[in-house]
Amino acid sequence: MVWLGQAGSRQEDSSLRPVRQHTSAVTTIEFCPGATVRQDGRMTKIRPARPTDAEDMSEVQNAIYRAGLRASPVDVALIRERYLDTENEVACTVAEQEDRVVGFQSLKRAWPGNPYDVAEGWGIIGTHIHPDAGRSGLGRRLFVESLAAAKAAGLRHLDATIGADNSPALAYYSAMGFTPYQEGGDTIPHRFDV
Ligand SMILES: CC(C)(COP(=O)(O)OP(=O)(O)OC[C@H]1O[C@@H](n2cnc3c(N)ncnc32)[C@H](O)[C@@H]1OP(=O)(O)O)[C@@H](O)C(=O)NCCC(=O)NCCS
Repeated sequence: MVWLGQAGSRQEDSSLRPVRQHTSAVTTIEFCPGATVRQDGRMTKIRPARPTDAEDMSEVQNAIYRAGLRASPVDVALIRERYLDTENEVACTVAEQEDRVVGFQSLKRAWPGNPYDVAEGWGIIGTHIHPDAGRSGLGRRLFVESLAAAKAAGLRHLDATIGADNSPALAYYSAMGFTPYQEGGDTIPHRFDV
């Protein structure tokens, strides 16, 4: 797996904005971007990352590592450096359940010499969902926020460089509308035109 993107903070805090109640095995309130909703029986809040999220964010990436979906573990200092204290940040949005961050998505402006060889002026996005919270729609909700941030920041294109053997990530970014744009080896760069 390839790490992508970094952090940032932006926007006002989320608020509860239920739109419609569904009747199903899992009670769900259809959401507006940024709303707090019940998802798989848990209240989920989508909000900008805060400095105090560093430990939870580190645990998210280490759980991904333990699941064999990430090449190396991280520590809190690395999370701060990559996602919380970076000057290239456009947005870093977290999904919080029961006062714990269970996933996050970072969006950075490509910087000179970035390791993904992404052209300056593009955005670089990265998504990290705790395996226990996977496939419950968190990635989809986080992308709504990142896309809004990309538009607000005037980014025209986003890059997600995805490990060629990372089928969940390939499926996820494809579902979000990303398409491959370069021949890859171990990684396949995908783009999204904002
Ligand atoms: C890839 C990842 C970000 C997906 O996040 P997620 O919250 O589980 O994704 P969602 O539940 O929002 O799924 C949105 C859509 O993506 C697709 N998708 C996501 N995970 C999938 C999987 N494992 N298999 C097939 N399709 C998948 C589906 O189309 C899904 O829509 P659906 O559930 O209505 O069918 C998450 O699995 C993850 O963090 N993986 C480890 C880290 C990583 O590899 N990050 C990406 C590279 S930086």
